[in-house]
Amino acid sequence: MAKRLHVILARAGVASRRQAEELIREGRVAVNGKVVVDPATQVVWGQDTIRVDNRLIDRLEPKVTVILNKPRGVVTTVSDPKGRPTTAELVRDIKARLFPVGRLDYHTEGLLILTNDGELAQYLQHPKYGIPKTYLAKVKGLPTAQAMKRIRCGVILNGKQTAPAKVRKIGTTGKNTWIEMTIREGRNRQVRRMWAAVGYPVLKLKRTRYGTIRLGNLKPGTYRRLTRREIEDIRKCIPR
Ligand code: URA
Repeated sequence: MAKRLHVILARAGVASRRQAEELIREGRVAVNGKVVVDPATQVVWGQDTIRVDNRLIDRLEPKVTVILNKPRGVVTTVSDPKGRPTTAELVRDIKARLFPVGRLDYHTEGLLILTNDGELAQYLQHPKYGIPKTYLAKVKGLPTAQAMKRIRCGVILNGKQTAPAKVRKIGTTGKNTWIEMTIREGRNRQVRRMWAAVGYPVLKLKRTRYGTIRLGNLKPGTYRRLTRREIEDIRKCIPR
């Protein structure tokens, strides 16, 4: 049966659907020897020859999904031109080609999902599903009730208000404050920018939860495969 090219690439574990669309638009995908730039191009798995960056895509990889406790000072990428440590290096002993679901910035630690399951990645990242992500943040100073309210109701970033967030104080060092917050968006450096916007810069940031998946006591720099149960819990929410 014919299917859209970006869907096939996601199923073959090349990238998420959205990333596959980008690969196609960038002219990196050829079907039967010809570069195609329209992600909706119809292809038949097993019949059409598909290459990405000249590499033949000829099998559907077994699906692998892991969570990594990304340490600070590691870049969320497959390779870094500046030679900094990457998340790909931390899961190097897994044979499948895993790609990160979204990003944690260089100084942020915590829960990062890596997978070759394009459909799962698409669901977890797409803004229309608004999957909640929970962070533990140490902010500079002692936020007022007014600042907490602004974070909760939304602050303007790049001219657009952030969606309502859940936020609570969980402790203080006297000078600084530990906050737990949950957001349903994934804008670039969103948590840091929200707190900077209300005058309390983030000093430390860690993601502890992504949808139904919890970081638990996984040590920084280590990973584990998701259990069948955890994957089923996500899968049953994916609309068909
Ligand atoms: N918000 C941030 O500011 N940084 C991250 O890495 C994730 C969310």
